Order: sequence, then C-alpha cells, then structure tokens
Amino acid sequence: MFKSEKRRVEKILRNFLEQKEIPVPESFQWKPIPFSGEWGMSVSFFKAAAQEARSGKQVNVPERAGEIARMAADLISGEDEFSRVEAVQGYLNLYFAPDQFSRKVVDSVLAEGADFGSGEPKGERLMVEFSQPNTHKAFHVGHLRSAILGDAVCRILEFAGYDVVRANYYGDIGLHVIQWLWNYMKFHRGEEPPQDTTRWMGDLYAEAVKRLEENPEYEQEVRDLYARWDERDPEVVALWKKTREWSLKGFENLYQILDIEFDRYYANSMVEEQGKEMVQELIEKGIAEDLRPEDAVLVRLDDLLGLENEKYRVLVVLRSDGTALYQTLDLALAKLKFEEYDLDTSIYVVDVRQKLHFQQVWKTLEIAGYDWAKDCEHLSYELVNLPGNVVMASREGTVVLLEDLIREARARALEVVEEKNPSLASDEKEKVAKAVGLGAIKYPMLDRDNTRIVTFDWDTALDFNGQAAPYIQYAHVRANSILEKMEGPVPEALTPDYTLNPAEIELIERISRIPDEIQNAARDRKPLHLTNALYDLARSFNAFYRECPVLSAEDPVKSFRLRLVAAAKQTIANGLTSLGIGAPSVM
Ligand code: ARG
Repeated sequence: MFKSEKRRVEKILRNFLEQKEIPVPESFQWKPIPFSGEWGMSVSFFKAAAQEARSGKQVNVPERAGEIARMAADLISGEDEFSRVEAVQGYLNLYFAPDQFSRKVVDSVLAEGADFGSGEPKGERLMVEFSQPNTHKAFHVGHLRSAILGDAVCRILEFAGYDVVRANYYGDIGLHVIQWLWNYMKFHRGEEPPQDTTRWMGDLYAEAVKRLEENPEYEQEVRDLYARWDERDPEVVALWKKTREWSLKGFENLYQILDIEFDRYYANSMVEEQGKEMVQELIEKGIAEDLRPEDAVLVRLDDLLGLENEKYRVLVVLRSDGTALYQTLDLALAKLKFEEYDLDTSIYVVDVRQKLHFQQVWKTLEIAGYDWAKDCEHLSYELVNLPGNVVMASREGTVVLLEDLIREARARALEVVEEKNPSLASDEKEKVAKAVGLGAIKYPMLDRDNTRIVTFDWDTALDFNGQAAPYIQYAHVRANSILEKMEGPVPEALTPDYTLNPAEIELIERISRIPDEIQNAARDRKPLHLTNALYDLARSFNAFYRECPVLSAEDPVKSFRLRLVAAAKQTIANGLTSLGIGAPSVM
C-alpha cells in the first residue's frame, strides 16, 4: 500500500522487536484490510512467536503473538497518520480514515508516477531463461507462450525489486541443423535468405524432412554430413555459422516486434564441451556409470538416493559413442549461469513436458556437490491450442507462424479501431492497432494459470467488453480522454471532504491493491495475479465512469475526481507495462 508509512512503521517495529529480543522477520508481510467504513493494513506476529517457541522459550504461540501485537499497538498508537490502531488475535491492525486513505492513495500514485507499484530493491539476483527457439527452424505459435510468459515474469520481478538477468538459450546444434544444412548444400547452394528470413529457414527445414521421408536413400548423406560436422570440417562449420546468423537475425526481428529483450544469449553449442567434461567428472566421482562402448553413460538417481519407489529414475548423460545429449548440455549450462552471474535463483521457463528432465539434471548436480542446484526452478507452462486444432509441429511445416499471427492480430485490431474511431489519423490507427493487436496476443498467455492449457481464439482475445487486453486498454483511453478535456494541469492535492460514492471507494481500493499484487505475482511467478487485479481495476474504473460525473461536477468533487482519474490512468499503464502490453492514449 503506502511505501513510506510501511517503512516508518516497520522501523518502529524492528527497533521494538530487537529491544525485546523477539525474532525480527526478514520482511514484514502486510495484508490489506478491505473497506468497511475505513481502510487498513495488518501484519501478524505468529511467526515471531512461533520462532521464539522453537528456540526453546516456554511460550504459548497464539497468546504470545497476541501479547507482541498488543505491545506493538501501544507503540504505534502515538503515530497520528492512523485513525485507529488495534491488536486482534496476534495481528496488528492499522486503520486509515476514508478521506485520508483516499487522498494518500491518489497522492502516492501521482507522486511516484511510473514507479507506482514498484517494490523496494531486494538485493536478490534472479536469472530467467525463456523463449529458447531452435535455429534452422520456424518460430511458431508454440514458442510464443514461453517468450510472452518469460518476458512478463521478468518485467514483474524487476518492478517488484529483484535484479533480473534475461537469458535466451537457442538450439543451434543437433540433427535438425544437419538436415537443414544437407538440404541447403544439395538443393539451395548459394542462396541468400529473402526478407522473410525466419519463414524461409522454417520452409527449408520442412522441405528437408519431407525429402528425407520420401527418399530414405538420402539418409546416408545426412549421416555423412553429421560425421563431417563431428570432425569440425571447416566448410560445414563455416556454413553452420553463416546460416545460424540468418536465424538469429530473424529471431531478433521478432523480439523487436514483440518488445522483448535479452541480456544474455546462451546456445547449445556453447556448452557442449563443458557438458562432456562434467560427465567425466561425474564418472570420476562415481556418480555416473560408464557403460561404453556397449551402452551409454548413466546416472541411476533413485539408486544413488536409496529411493525404493521410482522418482528420478535414470538419467543418460552421454551416448555410447561419446556424443552429447540435451541433458549433457543442461548440466553445463546450469553451472555456467551461476558462475557468470552469482545468482540467488535460476528460473527456467520451459513447457511442462520437460519436468522430469530438469528434476533429473538438478538432482544429479546436487549429488555432485553443487549447492546452487537447489536454487534452480522450473517455471513450467502448458501448451497453447489454436482453434481448428491447427497442428504446431515444425517437422511438417504445418505451423502457424508468429509473423502470421501478429499480422492477423494487427489487421483485426485495425478493423475494430476503424469502427470505433474512424476520424483518427491513419498512422495513429496503425500505432493503436499494433498495441491492441499485440495485447490481444499476449494477454491470453498471461491470464491463465501457467499450468493450464491456453486456448487462443480471436473473439476472446479482441473482446472490448470481456476479460481481455482491449478492455483494460480502453479504460486507460477513457481516463485519458477525461484528462484531455480538463482545462489546465491536474489539480493540487486535496482531501476529499465529501461522502465518497461507492464506485469511488471501489476504484480507490483497486488502485491501492496493485503494489501488493505485483509482489504476489513476482513471488509466485504468476502474471495471472496481475492480470486479474488489472481487470478488476479496469472494471471498477468503468463503473466509476458511468456513475461519477467528473468534468461536470462542482469543486472540490471535481478536483478530487480528476486526480483520481489521473491516478487510475497511471496505475493501469504501470500494470500493462509490467505485462509487456502497451497502453494507448486513444483507441
Ligand atoms: N530448445 C529447447 C526445446 O526446444 C528448450 C530449451 C529449454 N531450456 C533448457 N535449458 N533446456 O525443447
């Protein structure tokens, strides 16, 4: 809620707890008390009491929590910014008079501006790996959720106060690359990619797969090429490097359109050798069993852990011919990340089907003595369904390409904008269509629990009246249009000395919740908390818009409401920005 009040109260509480030798929490968990004639915030002392009990003191936890809360309440009662202070069942409740609270909410939004909702720096560094497309293949809708979810999680974490490193990890080696190179060398030698690079790369890959299916006799040529690659034949390596660049350039273009950035690009090829070295280390430590040349190198996790029931099973860490596998690389990648960035937490945004893979890799690293392995976290997500059950497999070339989806979104958004606002200049219309189109694509990937399947369809995504991005963007536009009609600047701060309309109260409450929801979304890695809070905020703004005249009201109602509108607009914009969605001023 209010940073400065919280900070002041926390300082008093911290001093008091220290003096009394009561355990001081690392951070105070404030909870808002919803409006019931007044507003409030509360904090519990159960944990502190429980900690005392655990450290050997003879205390009855609920009684002791109550006692601490009462002592705290006595101390805080002297602070005159609260209308009422009480201790109830181990909680310290601090109340604000409605007029004071309303003023504080609006004042703090307008004072903090684009920072409203942000959290105090936490001094914790997190890496989020997301998007991870494969070079020499198409970038399709299946890759979209990782990109959009990962980006939103980064934005939310940053805004919440974490130090975030955004990492990509593209797949630039493997059979698919060799197949692509084979097809290029045999049938497209010398060709340069057209404007639409990513599509062309994907088409050539699909073509390679088709040719190989139709002509099994080509398989030997692919195997020979793989052998040349394994020996690092200069011609093959040079072509690989050149063509990989084409893919990467194409991806960059897409990221730019999507407004997504990375701080660090990892690639499969960067960790192949280190991966093999780590396998050697595992063998030497007696963790991995080397069954070559008959069989592979494996880690029998359940046996090593003495588990009777199957849990981690067996992880193959190297092929019998000594070549690296997907998991070989992940052993090295995990290590590289912690070495390079001294991370507190390493998050992987990867689809749910790879759950066991990550559990196995990280458990292996833990057994090998890497303490940071327990700080790896799989942020798993479910797949995206498209209507008409469009197949999303780059092997068959039947994918819906991201470019197509974005183009269609913009076209559809443009239609809606033309209908709603025909008088808008055409370059304005294009700009708005871009923000609305991208919002329509991004929002459905964020307002579903990460572990639930997203079914994407146009009508829902572009619904101006439903739980969708355009609805929220439209509330922002409405707030903006009131402010544009206002003569002069936003009025000076004032305390509303009239009885607030229930719609105003609701709106103020929704605004005040946003900072907490940012923290919740960051903590749980769930943008969903924020999409819900923003939707509720937009809805309460629309109710306010219907029920509370602003420009035609008399002062001081008019002045306070104008400030409230400005605060609502700012809060909606901050929320949308944290999701990676634009907040247009007109629509
Ligand atoms: N490129 C991989 C795939 O297509 C995803 C990479 C996930 N990240 C990782 N560290 N394994 O499945």
